[in-house]
Amino acid sequence: MSAKTYILMDPATGKKIELKARAGSVGPDVIDIRSLYGEQGLFTYDPGFGSTAACESKITYIDGDQGILMYRGYPVEQLAEKSSFMEVCYLLLHGDLPTAAQLEEFTHTVTTHTMINETILRLFNGFHYDAHPMAMVAGVVGSMSAFYHDTTDIMNPRHRDIFAHRIIAKLPTIAAAAYKHTVGQPFTYPRNDLDYGSNLLHMFFAVPAQPYEIDPVAAQALDLLFILHADHEQNCSTSTVRLAGSSQANPYSAIAAGIAALWGPAHGGANEAVLEMLEQIGTPDRIPQFIARAKDKNDSFRLMGFGHRVYKNYDPRAKIIRTMTHKVLNQLGKADPLLDVAMRLEEIALQDPYFVEKKLYPNVDFYSGIIYKALGIPTSMFTVMFAIGRAVGWCAHWREMITDPEGRIGRPRQLYTGPARRDYVDVGKR
Ligand code: ACO
Repeated sequence: MSAKTYILMDPATGKKIELKARAGSVGPDVIDIRSLYGEQGLFTYDPGFGSTAACESKITYIDGDQGILMYRGYPVEQLAEKSSFMEVCYLLLHGDLPTAAQLEEFTHTVTTHTMINETILRLFNGFHYDAHPMAMVAGVVGSMSAFYHDTTDIMNPRHRDIFAHRIIAKLPTIAAAAYKHTVGQPFTYPRNDLDYGSNLLHMFFAVPAQPYEIDPVAAQALDLLFILHADHEQNCSTSTVRLAGSSQANPYSAIAAGIAALWGPAHGGANEAVLEMLEQIGTPDRIPQFIARAKDKNDSFRLMGFGHRVYKNYDPRAKIIRTMTHKVLNQLGKADPLLDVAMRLEEIALQDPYFVEKKLYPNVDFYSGIIYKALGIPTSMFTVMFAIGRAVGWCAHWREMITDPEGRIGRPRQLYTGPARRDYVDVGKR
């Protein structure tokens, strides 16, 4: 099918401007406006990028109306049921599911990159004991750009691979170091005989004074949460990684920028905010007053873990996590009254015309915190857990951006509404 052409008309002159559309493999067409400024002197205006495709990508597809999420074409539900986080990492980075040998090699490579330089470890001593873990993790990941000078030639594919392996492998180690710093315990070194989730639990919770037994249910729950967080196309943090990386900056700095963007409560920081909100609500009978506050235009309170820029239907990840929350709490034998509050809150909100009309559904962050809590992970670490899962998505997008033949430095324009030209007035005459 030939590409569609859209016509814009200059109302002053009646001149017609033809804009060609490009079709993706699935999803809406995009109108190619690249020549608009050069040929017509016009910009487009789209704050928040609600209607703007900033790049071409082959990694992840979301249909927000249908509630569909696919990594490299595979529905997230199938990956959550049948796959492992390591396999999903390979898929996102390389485009196809690995063979058994490829998966073994990839897992071995990631597993043998888990240690961090002792100098990086000492950086934690520079942070106050009550520093937020996201602040420490963003800072320490940024500091990785001061190491590994041997492998940061961004034009070298082998260097790009090593960078991705290091980020995926070392982020749990850095996260655990941040946690240990917060609780004043000695750092626990990684164990390369353990799988990804088990090693994370070991680094978080093992102490020198006594043996620590890893609960396989907890490790599996983490693996599944990491799969569900692994990528989400051009979200705020991923777009930040792409934009920072588009200047050809050191890739570790670009990931640090992504971590900083993820921290905000409108994005990944919502998982921490959800738990705080559920604790504040406390009991189901207090839900109506919080629903009323969320609907009140004069109150800045929002239902955290509700709503999404793209999903106007149930977030498929939230659906999986909700089922998983019951299973994990049962298996761990840990009932949590906050789960009852969350479920009742969801039920009430989904029947309320405000949430129905605005198509506000639970998102990925709504139930995940209840699982993290059951695993013993403190609330302030929730967004760090999100970052660990999302790191592979950031790496995959950074690699796609760097190798995109149409890629250029990201440089948006603006609608300027400030003062027109005016002359400087000497300070004594103002
Ligand atoms: N509670 C109450 N009202 C809401 C909520 C909410 N959680 N979310 C959106 N709305 C309302 C807005 O007030 C707005 O109403 P209006 O049209 O009458 O002004 C309308 O719904 C549209 O909301 P926007 O903020 O314009 O939507 P946007 O796409 O810009 O924001 C966002 C999406 C940031 C996720 C928003 O829904 C929100 O703040 N949710 C709570 C925070 C959250 O859970 N964030 C995590 C998102 S998932 C992720 O990033 C991993």
